[in-house]
Amino acid sequence: SNQRKFFVGGNWKMNGDKDELTKICNSLMNAKLHETTEVVVAPPSIYLDFVRQKLPAKIGVSAQNCYKIPKGAFTGEISPAMIKDNMCDWVILGHSERRHVFGESDHLIGEKVKHALESGISIIPCIGEKLDERESNKTNEVCFRQLKEIAANIKDWTRVVVAYEPVWAIGTGKTASPAQAQEVHKCVRDWLKTNVSEEVAKSTRILYGGSVTSGNCKELASQPDVDGFLVGGASLKPEFIDIINAK
Ligand code: G3P
Repeated sequence: SNQRKFFVGGNWKMNGDKDELTKICNSLMNAKLHETTEVVVAPPSIYLDFVRQKLPAKIGVSAQNCYKIPKGAFTGEISPAMIKDNMCDWVILGHSERRHVFGESDHLIGEKVKHALESGISIIPCIGEKLDERESNKTNEVCFRQLKEIAANIKDWTRVVVAYEPVWAIGTGKTASPAQAQEVHKCVRDWLKTNVSEEVAKSTRILYGGSVTSGNCKELASQPDVDGFLVGGASLKPEFIDIINAK
């Protein structure tokens, strides 16, 4: 056992409308959720306020992305200050879809990490290798390269939850095996120990993301370095409750 509180995030991506999100919020409110799990949901930014107003304070609400500057001529972007102004405390940064669909660089993600933390919100930075990178034994190299740029911009690790999401596992139904997840999580924790501090390595939650379901969550959650999940597809379904209660 360790001092890290189990953490389950629901990344709703570009899904849901007011009707569907109301139903999901109601089901979360009516469910019995383990008090030992910290729960955070991430609706599309246009619904941040809508969802925040529906959920009790103990459930966190997160944006899925933000920009690196407080305000200005950046059409289509939102700032951490705006997330905070909507009473939301979190932002996911560097999600694989931001990196690979929208072309965000390690450097830009680092700048976003810095600005979000300076603005007073908490962050869920994401790392993870693509299939060809895993197959050419570059998993650690890629994860450490991404992590380095993130870590260089963090002073206060108490507001950071790292998500490991292998790209080949996202939305594919091909979940990493518990052993595969544990192996990378352990390497990430060792990296933190060497490059940040022993205390940060011990206390920072490392989430697994990629085709987590009610069927595979328990075994993944039992791995010593898996401190929770970042859930996509299944977070829109009733089984999200089972994933929250996996530990
Ligand atoms: O951020 C969570 C995500 O990328 C995983 O998505 O649908 O494979 O659970 P999914």
